[in-house]
Amino acid sequence: MAPAPSFRGHQWTYNPVRGSCLLLLLVMSNLLLCQGNSCPSCCPDVSDIPLDLLRELFLNATLLSQSILKHSRIMLNEFDEKYAQGKLYYLTATKSCHTNSLHTTEDMDKAEKIDNEDLSKWILMLLYSWHRPLYLLVKDLQSMKEVSDTILSSAKENMRKIEELQAFIERQFSQVIYPVIRTIFKARIYWSGLASLVSNDEDVRHSAFYKLFMCLYRDSRKLDMYTEILACRITNTC
Ligand SMILES: *[C@@H]1O[C@H](CO)[C@@H](O)[C@H](O)[C@H]1NC(C)=O
Repeated sequence: MAPAPSFRGHQWTYNPVRGSCLLLLLVMSNLLLCQGNSCPSCCPDVSDIPLDLLRELFLNATLLSQSILKHSRIMLNEFDEKYAQGKLYYLTATKSCHTNSLHTTEDMDKAEKIDNEDLSKWILMLLYSWHRPLYLLVKDLQSMKEVSDTILSSAKENMRKIEELQAFIERQFSQVIYPVIRTIFKARIYWSGLASLVSNDEDVRHSAFYKLFMCLYRDSRKLDMYTEILACRITNTC
């Protein structure tokens, strides 16, 4: 999501609070539109969808989450090989990911105890939280030397797949959209790594890029795990 500019004095400045409200307004207006018109298949109660179609839909969702994971791995590996050899960035990289306060689990056994609705919430939270950093990477940071062609094309691919998976989950579980937005606001999930990514200090910059890619990779693994669990439960293929 692009930063929302606000006009103050004679300068355009970025106001994060207003930006967040804009995001909320956008999502709310989508929800209202959705409620006004017929909203396709809103519930995990999907009994009116033929099982074959449902299987294909959820199979496609797992292909999306696998692809997001694959591209996140490519981004991390590429950066790691070029800039992180012999560095200790990995020691602290995931200690302060912007999604940490969502408290989503990495543990398969724990995830399997979570019900479908909460899994769909976690998936959406992660997807919403990563849209902005990827967007900024693709739009604002694409000319930096750290952002190689490989990284850029994987980031673009991830943006597309994240949007597709997001649209799918929103269609299947539209009742969780509003609670998810509320949680993201309450937990103050807001990515603010841009300044470090463009720092003049090379070590600060590289450590910030490493952290970005490592957090994305970690969260992609979670995303893929939750999507697989959800898909196998709903299509009875576990
Ligand atoms: C699943 O994905 C394939 C390939 O992208 C697409 O052709 C097909 O229409 C999708 N199926 C459903 C049910 O959306």
